[in-house]
Amino acid sequence: MTMAASACQGLLLGALAAAVLSTASATLQYDFYSSSCPQAEEAVRNATMKIVSDNPTMGAAFVRLFFHDCFVKGCDASILLDQSNSNPQPEKLAIPLRGYDAVNTIKAAVEAVCPGVVSCADILAYAARDSAMISGGFTFAMPGGRRDGIGSDLNDIPASIPSPSMQVQDLISSFGAKGLSASDLVALSGAHSFGQTHCSFVTPRLYPSLDKTMDKAFGEALQKECPRRGPGGTVLNNNVVTDPNALSNQYYKNVIARQVMFTSDQTLTTSSNATARMVQDNADDPVGWMARFAGAMVKMGGIEVLTGTQGEIRKVCGATNSGS
Ligand code: HEM
Ligand SMILES: *[C@@H]1O[C@H](CO)[C@@H](O)[C@H](O)[C@H]1NC(C)=O
Ligand SMILES: *[C@@H]1O[C@H](CO)[C@@H](O)[C@H](O)[C@H]1NC(C)=O
Repeated sequence: MTMAASACQGLLLGALAAAVLSTASATLQYDFYSSSCPQAEEAVRNATMKIVSDNPTMGAAFVRLFFHDCFVKGCDASILLDQSNSNPQPEKLAIPLRGYDAVNTIKAAVEAVCPGVVSCADILAYAARDSAMISGGFTFAMPGGRRDGIGSDLNDIPASIPSPSMQVQDLISSFGAKGLSASDLVALSGAHSFGQTHCSFVTPRLYPSLDKTMDKAFGEALQKECPRRGPGGTVLNNNVVTDPNALSNQYYKNVIARQVMFTSDQTLTTSSNATARMVQDNADDPVGWMARFAGAMVKMGGIEVLTGTQGEIRKVCGATNSGS
């Protein structure tokens, strides 16, 4: 259990999420599986807790998978589809993400309770929500009813997923294209309080000279860990100040101290007074940040969803039911 979790275990942010839902994703419903599979959310939570307690880095993996799923073709589990003969170029080949086997483990636990009922898109949304509880100590209601898509194309990634070299105006446009505000962008960027990165994403800010917006001592330490001609694959923690597996508002303190990995993090304070103010607010008010993060996760979870009879409920998360 993380420090953040023991400090605010049980904080429930449902009302705010409900308010956001009514505008963002009116077609999804809270307790969507209450009659078709009453144990669905509990089965996801149990399996997610087991995975994250065995490997505390996994909470971050689920949260990032959810972001990448929702930003590309909506939250339709397209990120989870494996390469196949009929689909040689699925999204997952474009960017290496962690946690696919773990999602399959959760899906198997849910299938054991209610076969063929709960979508992989919802399982990922619930697992991401549960990761905030387990690694962040706050919980909120996440609506369900997403259906699984049948396509996944790596060519959809560049136009959908923002790059770590982006400045704030481009980030705001990227999130705006998905119906998310600048405030949502800043709140969700708090996910970079936990989890991992690789030297290859950071070296553009280290060489040929240290990015002037980066704290000098922090940058020099990174230069040691990520030598100029070293392998880009060295793993770093996003947050080197406090528990690297705790989802918290420490991220905003790191942004203010100029001790963050990406241009897309630092630009929130260096390029816009409006977002700089939001960073300060989130740094000063951990519970306010949790509420904004929860609201933005629900909003992100409503992006371009398939509902009703659209798509399908996959039997396994790595393949469509027709095997593609
Ligand atoms: C604002 C635009 C964003 C950019 C440019 C960005 C970029 C990145 C990059 C480059 C990494 C490191 C990946 C690696 O080395 O493997 C990363 C990690 C991560 N990102 Fe973001 N990200 C953004 C927004 C988000 C959002 C909205 C979330 C979720 C709410 C998120 C959650 C995470 C998490 C949890 C990790 C750590 C993953 C792990 O431990 O495997 N990011 N991000
Ligand atoms: C979840 O775990 C609790 C506590 O171990 C157990 O009582 C419950 O039956 C589990 N629920 C499901 C759906 O697996
Ligand atoms: C921020 O506000 C100050 C004045 O308070 C102004 O001088 C500066 O240009 C603003 N910066 C940006 C990036 O808008």
